[in-house]
Order: sequence, then structure tokens, then C-alpha cells
Amino acid sequence: IIEKVSKHRNEKAYLVGGIVRDLILNIKNLDIDIVIEGDAIAFAKELNVFLNIKKIITHEKFKTAIIFLETGLNIDLASSRLEYYEYPTSLPTVSYSSIDKDLYRRDFTINAMALEIDYNNFGKLIDYYNGYYDLINKKIKILHNLSFIEDPTRIIRAIRFASRYNFDIESDTEKFLIQAVNDGFLNKISFDRLKNEIIKILKDKNPHKALNLFEKFNIFEKFNLNIIITPSTYNIFKKVLENKDEIIKNNVKPWQILLITLFRRLNSEDLKTIFHRFGFKNKFIRKISIGINERKIIVEKLKTANKNSKIYFLLNNIPLEIIYLIKYSYPEIENKINLYLNQLQNIVPIINGKILLKNGYTESKKIKNIIKHALELQLDNENYTIKEILKELHE
Ligand code: CTP
Repeated sequence: IIEKVSKHRNEKAYLVGGIVRDLILNIKNLDIDIVIEGDAIAFAKELNVFLNIKKIITHEKFKTAIIFLETGLNIDLASSRLEYYEYPTSLPTVSYSSIDKDLYRRDFTINAMALEIDYNNFGKLIDYYNGYYDLINKKIKILHNLSFIEDPTRIIRAIRFASRYNFDIESDTEKFLIQAVNDGFLNKISFDRLKNEIIKILKDKNPHKALNLFEKFNIFEKFNLNIIITPSTYNIFKKVLENKDEIIKNNVKPWQILLITLFRRLNSEDLKTIFHRFGFKNKFIRKISIGINERKIIVEKLKTANKNSKIYFLLNNIPLEIIYLIKYSYPEIENKINLYLNQLQNIVPIINGKILLKNGYTESKKIKNIIKHALELQLDNENYTIKEILKELHE
């Protein structure tokens, strides 16, 4: 269909960026980015005639369009353009151009290939910067010396792609990366972009190499984020990644445990401040700052906890993300945490307010205490019945 529209409009169209890279690597990627040598908005509107399009969002200033298909898939269309950077990380001013200029503004050779998908040369790989060669040779390489200065987010992106595909950062690229880090360019990355890149890293299958590279280039030190990568950081990462399925089953996102792992040495006030700057939602921040300071005390208490109820009441107000962090930091209490996660947290109290009201209890504080006490009895003796608990409470 794109071929047809491109012919009709006499404009060339190219798949670009990550999807071309991943097509060559034979990795699934549903981020469809298309560059039109011409007017992407008019092109998108014409596609509308042939496709089952749910809606189109256009951005006149940037000459871009996003097509939302009925199938749930999105297609991003952009007009090939030249970007002028007025100062590092500023929003670029935009003007029309051809695909080669469009590719030149990109981060790494492996991300700067295009696949022509128009009437002219359908299926032709456009690779001015030897991205294919670098992909085969597993190299992350910038296109020009000022790349990291133009967009310092690329420092983190280099680490991300090297880690994701287990590639090496090419030696000159590494030199420029270190230079940019030492010259303080990391601080020009907005918190929002930093957050997005870090989350992407933590969502990747194997972020170990990223930890390695963060350490090697002293990235976190430069951010003054008080993140120290230690052998136990690697250890916790390893365990979280090995147990991803179980964690997801408990409705916890593994990347969030990894994020907290990185920041675990911060006190909850500093953690809150930083996470606010990252733009995380208040609810999330409030949640994960509970228990982060008290971890060591909880662990000490868990070590001597000899009853189910003790374990339960130590953990039941702590968010699961922190519980997992504790579990993987202190193997000596792993059994107790497993007992909580697999059994105790799912126990439904057999005594509740309704039952107590029926049995003549009216004072709310008392009801609360009784419910807690009843749950304690229930947790420590599985065979209790409501009657027995009420009888015991009475005594
Ligand atoms: N890009 C760039 N410089 C950046 C960000 C993006 O040059 N700082 C270009 C790259 O060509 C990249 C494309 O924009 O391939 C799309 O960016 P993005 O969606 O962030 O990354 P992907 O390469 O698609 O990787 P991912 O699979 O992680 O989405």
C-alpha cells in the first residue's frame, strides 16, 4: 500500500531506525518508523484511503503523523528533515531534506540504516555509514565526533544497545563517550529522557552488561545520584531476572525491583526527591518509599520470627517490590519470605467486622484489635474455626 501511495504522490518512503536494525538481526520490533521524502502528513492522509485506520494524529510543526491501525499497531511517519541544534539538547528547528541528511542526524551506524519501501526500489537497504558491517561485527559506533555532545542521551543509549545486543562500543566512539562524560555532558540530559532510557535498560532481557558499563564510565557518580554498583547489585539483578515469571505472577514489575535495587542506598526522603524529579507517579513514589529505610530492622526481626503471624505482620505493610529486594539481598531469610509470598499473604481472615458486629461487638477500635488478634490465631493455627476463635477471644 505504501508502494502504491508513494507512486501516486511521487515521493519516496523508507523504514528507518530500530526496526531496520532489528529486521536484520531477526528480532521482533513493532515500532514502525517511516520517513517520507516529502510531506509525511499528506502521505499519511492518503494511506487512510487504503488502510483500516482508527485515527491519525498529526504534528504540523514537525511534519509528522502517527497512524493508529485497527489492529492495535501504530505507524510513525516523519518527513525527512535536517535538524539544526541551536545548543545541546535543545528542540531542533526543522526543515525539509532528503533521506541521507535524515540518517546523518542519527545516533549510531546500526540505527542509521533505511530500507526503501516505495515504488522506486522496494527492499533496497540504504546504508551510507556501514551500519550493516557494524551490526555483523557487533559494534556500537557514532557517525561523527560531536554525536554525544549534540545529544548526551546517546551516552546512555550507547550503553543500552551494547548491553542489549552484547555489542562492543567501538574504540573511537568509547573515547568520545568518555570525553563527553568527563566534560560534564551527562548533566545536560533531561530527567525525563534519562528515566526513559534507564527504564528501557531495566526492561531488557539482560541488563548486566549495562551495569558493567555504567560502572566502567562512572556514569552514576557524575549524576550525583548516590548510586553505587556493588557485587550485591549484580547478585540481586541476577536473581530478579532468574525469577521474572514468579515476580510477574505476583503482579510486580521486575524492572521496578531493579530500579529500587539501584537506588536502595538512598534514604526514603532522597529517594522521594529523585523519583519526583524523574516524574514517577506520586502513588508509586509513596509506595516504594515505605520500608526502604527499615529493611535492615525488618531483616533482623525476621531472622528471629518463629511464628507465621510474626512474619506476616512484619511484611504485610511493606510493598512487594521491597519484599523482593529484601528476599534477594538476604538469602538467610528467603524461606520466611517465600512462606509469606506463597502462603501467608493470601490468607483470607475468617473473622471480619461483619461477623463481630453480628456477635455484639460495636466499638471500632476494639473490632480492629480483635480482627488483628483473630488473624494472628488463624495464621498460627490453620485449623481454627470462627467459633473456636471467638471462644478464645472471649476467654
Ligand atoms: N535516535 C537518535 N538519537 C537519539 C534517539 C533516537 O538518533 N537520541 C534515532 C535512532 O536512529 C533510533 C531511532 O531514532 O533508531 C528511534 O529511536 P528509539 O525509538 O528511541 O530507539 P530504537 O532504536 O527504536 O530502539 P528501541 O528498540 O529500544 O525502541
